[in-house]
Amino acid sequence: MTGQLTFIDLKPTSENFLDAVAAGLAATPKTLPAKFFYDQRGSKLFEDITNLEEYYQTRTEMALLKTIAPELKRLIPAGSKLVEFGSGSSEKIRVLIDQVGKFVTYIPIDISRDYLKMEAEALASDHPDLNIIAICADYTKPFEVPAGMTGGEDCTGFFPGSTIGNMTPGEAVNFLKIAGRLLGPGAGFIIGVDLKKDPAILYAAYNDAKGVTADFNLNILRRINNELRGDFDLESFRHRAFYNALAGRIEMHLISLADQTASVAGKQFSFLKGETIHTENSYKYNVGEFQALAKKAGLKPVKAWWDDAWLFSIHFLRVG
Ligand code: AVI
Repeated sequence: MTGQLTFIDLKPTSENFLDAVAAGLAATPKTLPAKFFYDQRGSKLFEDITNLEEYYQTRTEMALLKTIAPELKRLIPAGSKLVEFGSGSSEKIRVLIDQVGKFVTYIPIDISRDYLKMEAEALASDHPDLNIIAICADYTKPFEVPAGMTGGEDCTGFFPGSTIGNMTPGEAVNFLKIAGRLLGPGAGFIIGVDLKKDPAILYAAYNDAKGVTADFNLNILRRINNELRGDFDLESFRHRAFYNALAGRIEMHLISLADQTASVAGKQFSFLKGETIHTENSYKYNVGEFQALAKKAGLKPVKAWWDDAWLFSIHFLRVG
């Protein structure tokens, strides 16, 4: 049998970068949305982060996926469709396709058209038997796919990398509801979630010795300078990341080292010495907390796994 590669463009409207930056810098406290980290340089820096000694998440999740592949095989019916939310994890997808091996169709959904096409084409050439239906859409908002494409027990969702941690708990419930509706009653859902742990381990993961995470955080200012006629002095801002135990999240900020003004597309924004721009949250959940969150979205926890050092978890949920 030969698989087919189909591309469906639902023409998602991406949030305007300038509008988001102007609103975030005018707010108190100042914020910038983390999704704008990922220009070409930012994506490369994130890839570098995933290879850092201190950043345990990616390698731990990969190893765990390989360990639990035989169990996933028992939970997933043969001839299933695999629906991935975001398509940046081809290594992990390959573990599922090669080691769980029950999928006939792979449906990646991503807002980034070019990246989606590139990843889908690469996978198609390595897996000529697999049907691939790449859908360009914003998976955080409700969207329709052609009738019969997804839905039901022969569907399995995949959302790895603890990307769900970059959403607030409210946004996460909302996303899980949207995803559950798309996958349909009876579908399985595999989600990677970073665990709560010793704050020192978390601190090191977001304050690596080589300064890659700092560079990644500061890159958002570089991107504003390049794309929005900004004049941020990158030397006058410093990366700051810490664990907020009350909120259960890592917070990343850029802290202003002086009283200063920066302009963006002709508009001025002032910063006091010590004032911060909040750039990212990365929520951490213990297993029970995440299961409670999933239940709020109508998903039933079936099984959860974690590594021996209790760093990272993978959940298998069932859409109710
Ligand atoms: C993509 N996301 C799960 C990463 C995280 O750990 O929250 C982004 C990141 N931020 C700093 N380092 C990595």
